[in-house]
Amino acid sequence: MTATTAGGALLPRDQVPLLAAHPGLHYLDSAATTQKPLAVLDAERAFYSTANANPHRGAYALSVAATDALHDARAAVARFLGVGDPACCLFTRGTTEALNLVARSWGEAHVRAGDEVVVTALEHHANFVPWQQLARRTGATLRIVPLTARQEVDLDALAAVLGARTRVVAVTHVSNAVGAVTPLEAVVALVRARSDALLVVDGAQGAPHLPVAFDALGADFYACSGHKLLGPMGVGVLAGRRAVLEAMPPWHHGGDMIEVVGDEDSTWNVLPHRFEAGTPNAAGAVALAAAVRVLEGIGVPAIRAHEVALLARAEARLQALPGVTIYGPPAAERSGVLSFTVDGVHPHDLATILDQHGVCIRAGHHCAQPLMRRLEVPATARASFYVYSDEADADALADGVADAVRLFGVG
Ligand code: ALA
Repeated sequence: MTATTAGGALLPRDQVPLLAAHPGLHYLDSAATTQKPLAVLDAERAFYSTANANPHRGAYALSVAATDALHDARAAVARFLGVGDPACCLFTRGTTEALNLVARSWGEAHVRAGDEVVVTALEHHANFVPWQQLARRTGATLRIVPLTARQEVDLDALAAVLGARTRVVAVTHVSNAVGAVTPLEAVVALVRARSDALLVVDGAQGAPHLPVAFDALGADFYACSGHKLLGPMGVGVLAGRRAVLEAMPPWHHGGDMIEVVGDEDSTWNVLPHRFEAGTPNAAGAVALAAAVRVLEGIGVPAIRAHEVALLARAEARLQALPGVTIYGPPAAERSGVLSFTVDGVHPHDLATILDQHGVCIRAGHHCAQPLMRRLEVPATARASFYVYSDEADADALADGVADAVRLFGVG
């Protein structure tokens, strides 16, 4: 789409209406949700303006147009995620719903007392609590893989917990809280070599920043959210292996997911419809497809290089300030996120001071309380970068933190 200029954004601010309308705003909370390009907003509006009808339900031309739009959106998203068979890409409300779908549907059909369910200490609550609660319901044991000193999944520790009793391994691609990247190829190899477990990947923070190549990867499931990758809220994707999906019972019952409804029992529609009960968020899916086209136009490798450069720039300034601790591996090995604390300044106070500089960050536990407990902090301040971020954003962050250090008299 656009080439970056020195220090500039990969996606110019004039293509992102919210940023264009607020020239002084430094939006550094893209790990929470991304700002939306005009192309995405236009796509959603175009669906409702030109093709709005209920997909799959009408024989009239407008309903066929809506069905086609949903079909095309699924194909675009499947291409982006490296899924050869678009029917294996289910639209969900987001990553959370996708992970709950797997835990409820596959989990309750396959996990029994005495089995082991493996998660890591790096997980967002959405890829921790569904498995914890599944284990509680079924009598399985939850095993939590510890982290290295750099807050990465400890592969030796993972290898040590895998075995004949392991039924599920659920792991994040990228930590939302500290930006650590999980080497998925190594995880797949370990899990396949040492167990027959289902391998579920939380890709909420992975798909926006790194190549996915789901079919080549060999995991069983990969979940992601539209709103983290320039798309709208309320639409996400669960990519799954066909054989696994076909063997799973539906978890929501309703319209469009059935084949025949008898008085006593019912049979289920084919993929993907079996797992998409009710009127789909077709406009959201169309807008999500527009978002992945924007990202494909920029190129995922360019996104990674851009983010690493901005992380390194901001990090160099922060490291020079007294009392600053930065979490996770070094900038070149993280994805999008700069998570830090400043001695004597609560992260919420940092966020408030930064807001006065026009800098938006998230402060808190980032829905990763197991990780915060292991870091022995209640919260961190987290700045997160994306395609529309630029050097001015990185510098405004550093200026704001320096101001906070001055105000609180640290050092
Ligand atoms: N999961 C989102 C975040 O990390 C909300 O901020």
